Amino acid sequence: MKTIEWVDNSLKLIDQRKIPNELSYVYCTKYQDVIEAIDNMTVRGAPAIGVAAAFAMALADINGENLEKAAEDIKSSRPTAINLFWAVDRVYNSDNTLDEALKIYSEDVETNLAIGQYGSSIIDEGDTILTHCNAGALACTEYGTALGVIRSAFSEGKDINVICDETRPRGQGARLSVWELQEEGIPVKLIPDVASGYLMSLGKIDKVIIGADRVAKGGIVNKIGSLLVGLAANNFNIPFYVAAPFSTFDKDNSIFDTEIEERSQYEVTHYGGCRICPENTEVINPAFDIVPNNLITGIITEEGIIDPIK
Ligand code: MRU
Repeated sequence: MKTIEWVDNSLKLIDQRKIPNELSYVYCTKYQDVIEAIDNMTVRGAPAIGVAAAFAMALADINGENLEKAAEDIKSSRPTAINLFWAVDRVYNSDNTLDEALKIYSEDVETNLAIGQYGSSIIDEGDTILTHCNAGALACTEYGTALGVIRSAFSEGKDINVICDETRPRGQGARLSVWELQEEGIPVKLIPDVASGYLMSLGKIDKVIIGADRVAKGGIVNKIGSLLVGLAANNFNIPFYVAAPFSTFDKDNSIFDTEIEERSQYEVTHYGGCRICPENTEVINPAFDIVPNNLITGIITEEGIIDPIK
């Protein structure tokens, strides 16, 4: 499955808002189309928005736009995942925008395969693995980071089970991770977000593996709810791994300085198009949270498993 493809000078994106009900595509021919696709979450997940942003720069160049302005506009599409800023700067500073974007694309696939191979070493026969949000092929170009580790272990013939939590409010776990795993025949069960602590207390979860939007000094940032999963795992002595490529690292800065995106109130006040709280309810809707180093067992990278950054 290809989440992102460069086809005839346009960027073809799986429309992730429609999965699992429909597999359809959005085509971007202008950099502004890519900004809209990132903002409205047609494309999402740190590596995927990095790659999409790289192609947005190439589209700006092809269309003769001012690259400095394009870079600034693209960087304002979503604030938290560092991959977006990394990719825009890399393409901006290159000699050939399209070649560089294509390079970032193919590196992403290789990187995920390497993460999968290293990560598979921590998975034991019979493990049940909890993952949060979607750090799969849909969050990258192909394969995935956390789900890449799971794919790799499964393809080596390990007998594993996966538990996805729903990941409210946007349901990336229920809609995207379950769909991806089912497509490949990997055994998966869905739980409400609020059930993971209880399942851990019963000894029904052996490991947690999640992705990250940023890895920096002191911890990682990932989808809202990651912190609660990390706290519960720590309480029950369950290994908690983060799978992330170096393009997600912001090694010179403190994780506590990361801008955490606040998304629309509508995501919380409505479910499936229906209002689920009284009119005029005030909402707080941070899209990400911070998991501090003391809750993290290790970070699975394309060069091996490392300690979190101090
Ligand atoms: O808001 P999203 O869906 O873009 O959030 C995605 C996540 O939090 C992922 O876990 C993260 O980007 C890692 S993807 C390999």
